[in-house]
Amino acid sequence: MASSIIISPAVVVVTITSIMMIMLFSLANALSSPSSSTDEAEALRRTGWWNSTSAHCTWDGVYCNKAGSVTLIDLTYSRKELGELSKLEFSSFPSLVELWLGACGLNGTIPHQIGTLTQLTFLVLPLNNLTGELPLSLANLTQLEGLSLYSNRLHGSIPPQIGKMKNLIGFNLHYNNLTGVIPSSFGNLTNLTYLRLYGNQMSGFIPPQIGKIKNLISFFLHDNNLTGVIPSSFGNLTSLTYLTLSSNQISGFIPPKIGYLLNLSYLDLSANQINGFIPREIVNLKKLSYLDLSNNLISGKIPSQLGNLKELEYSNLSYNNLSGTIPHSISDNYMTSFDLSHNQLENQSTIPHEAFRHDKGLCGGIKGLSHCKNRHQIILIIVISIFATLLLSITVVGILFCKQKIRKNQLSKTTKAKNGDLFSIWDYDGTIAYDDIIQATEDFDIKYCIGIGGYGSVYKAQLPSGKVVALKKLHSWERDDPTYLKSFENEVQMLSTIQHRNIVKLYGFCLHKRCMFLVYKYMEKGSLYCMLRDEVEAMEFNWIKRVNVVKGIANALSYMHHDYDLPIIHRDISSNNILLDSKLEAFVADFGTARLLDPDSSNQTLLAGTYGYIAPALGW
Ligand SMILES: *[C@@H]1O[C@H](CO)[C@@H](O)[C@H](O)[C@H]1NC(C)=O
Ligand SMILES: *[C@@H]1O[C@H](CO)[C@@H](O)[C@H](O)[C@H]1NC(C)=O
Ligand SMILES: *[C@@H]1O[C@H](CO)[C@@H](O)[C@H](O)[C@H]1NC(C)=O
Ligand SMILES: *[C@@H]1O[C@H](CO)[C@@H](O)[C@H](O)[C@H]1NC(C)=O
Ligand SMILES: *[C@@H]1O[C@H](CO)[C@@H](O)[C@H](O)[C@H]1NC(C)=O
Repeated sequence: MASSIIISPAVVVVTITSIMMIMLFSLANALSSPSSSTDEAEALRRTGWWNSTSAHCTWDGVYCNKAGSVTLIDLTYSRKELGELSKLEFSSFPSLVELWLGACGLNGTIPHQIGTLTQLTFLVLPLNNLTGELPLSLANLTQLEGLSLYSNRLHGSIPPQIGKMKNLIGFNLHYNNLTGVIPSSFGNLTNLTYLRLYGNQMSGFIPPQIGKIKNLISFFLHDNNLTGVIPSSFGNLTSLTYLTLSSNQISGFIPPKIGYLLNLSYLDLSANQINGFIPREIVNLKKLSYLDLSNNLISGKIPSQLGNLKELEYSNLSYNNLSGTIPHSISDNYMTSFDLSHNQLENQSTIPHEAFRHDKGLCGGIKGLSHCKNRHQIILIIVISIFATLLLSITVVGILFCKQKIRKNQLSKTTKAKNGDLFSIWDYDGTIAYDDIIQATEDFDIKYCIGIGGYGSVYKAQLPSGKVVALKKLHSWERDDPTYLKSFENEVQMLSTIQHRNIVKLYGFCLHKRCMFLVYKYMEKGSLYCMLRDEVEAMEFNWIKRVNVVKGIANALSYMHHDYDLPIIHRDISSNNILLDSKLEAFVADFGTARLLDPDSSNQTLLAGTYGYIAPALGW
């Protein structure tokens, strides 16, 4: 048998060559992959930011791929003082995808070598002391989706090469000392959604190419030295929701095409040199809730339908040259706060109610409680006034009574999110799993979104068990903002400590870089605010039901103020934050700004309030 096997010399040569190649390959692999991973470990060690002796992929804030190569570094909120950013040798981390070093005490300049991190999608270094100019090599980071360098001390101008970062979604460079012009190449960044350059010293005019950024939602350029006119190409920015240009030296008139921005909700052009008329088209902006044109040179008449904008809560046209009569839509509007003072308007004597008085012009109106003009709204005002008085007395009484029974640090037992890496579900039938939530919402598809809150979006999810839950998820751009992250964590901390039948129930939460959401009991009837705004619903919502709601809220507040070791102050009670279940039972929600009243502390500086009321610098 053996003699029948014929082996040709060619086959032998091929076989031996193959074997040798395989051996060479494995040798190369054996030499190269561990050594590059060791290089990375060494490079990490040399920063002095860690001193653990274990494998580097297990260090705090270090995440690796399967090959042991570092893909993500996140030391945000690690309370470390990292010093020079250049301690991180960028060229040693070819696989790095995300770098999160916010509020880490970084100083020095952004090294030119940053350009070697060509895989980078997120560069998030806000709230540090970085100095110097933006390196030109940044333009090499063409995969970048998020560039967040706000609240540093960067100077110089924004390089025009920025236009190469085609994947950019968020560009947050506010609160620096940047000068120079806004490069027209921004127009090439068609994915850009959030552009924040406020609080710099940028000059020159707004390039008309900005009008090409179709996805732009937030455009914050206030507090700069910008001149020139508002380009009419702004009319193309149909996604725009927030346009601020206040405190610049913008001149010219407001382009009538502003009427195309149907999603615009917040428009602040105050403190500029804008002249011409208020375009009539402004009344097309049905979603407008905040309008500030004060402190300009605007003349002519006020568009007659301005007061009919249902969403408008605040409108400031003061310190202009407006003339003519005040439209009925404004004088009949009890709900919106209109400041028309310091103009040349005529008929203030015909204004029926007392709220409109003041010197030459008019000022006031009842500050934005709601928008509709029916009797239910007036009832709402009465209910809310009674309720506010009640709240105030409870707060005062609560403070007085609870002073004695204070025990400190009782929150230390709460689960602490270690390095943002936590998923916890409790107090439920144990059937909610992370995967179920992702599946039920098709990874938070917009079609499951039922509302957008002061921060984050709220989704409705039906789990495989049939149960329906509500999910509040932070937007990716809110995650690098410490105020939102803090609100989110605060809510988890508060709601995991308190339980009451009139306080919204938290089933669980996920606090991780890629999944920032809270899981609540679903409330069928939505918020009290929505209920009262709907003509039909509001009609059915009779006095007995309303009193029940007030009682429920009073119960919850009394519990928070009296029955707990330290009084909990909600600080943002509004009809938006009262939720109703199918039986119209009220639940207090949104504990993002709640805090414990610690009598030993006088610290009152925490952010508090609803968007639209909090400082725009902190909101979206
Ligand atoms: C290094 O280790 C020491 C204890 O050996 C610890 O006190 C120190 O905080 C560590 N430094 C860093 C940067 O982790
Ligand atoms: C830009 O990226 C290329 C690789 O794509 C790299 O070779 C080059 O060094 C980078 N340039 C800078 C300035 O970092
Ligand atoms: C922007 O795009 C235009 C046309 O596509 C191109 O000519 C220009 O060089 C680009 N600018 C930058 C800075 O990428
Ligand atoms: C306006 O906003 C709604 C949701 O609020 C969104 O569905 C719609 O796509 C937006 N329109 C544009 C043009 O972006
Ligand atoms: C309206 O704007 C002016 C000037 O910017 C400001 O002084 C005034 O307080 C504002 N009015 C209201 C009601 O906020």
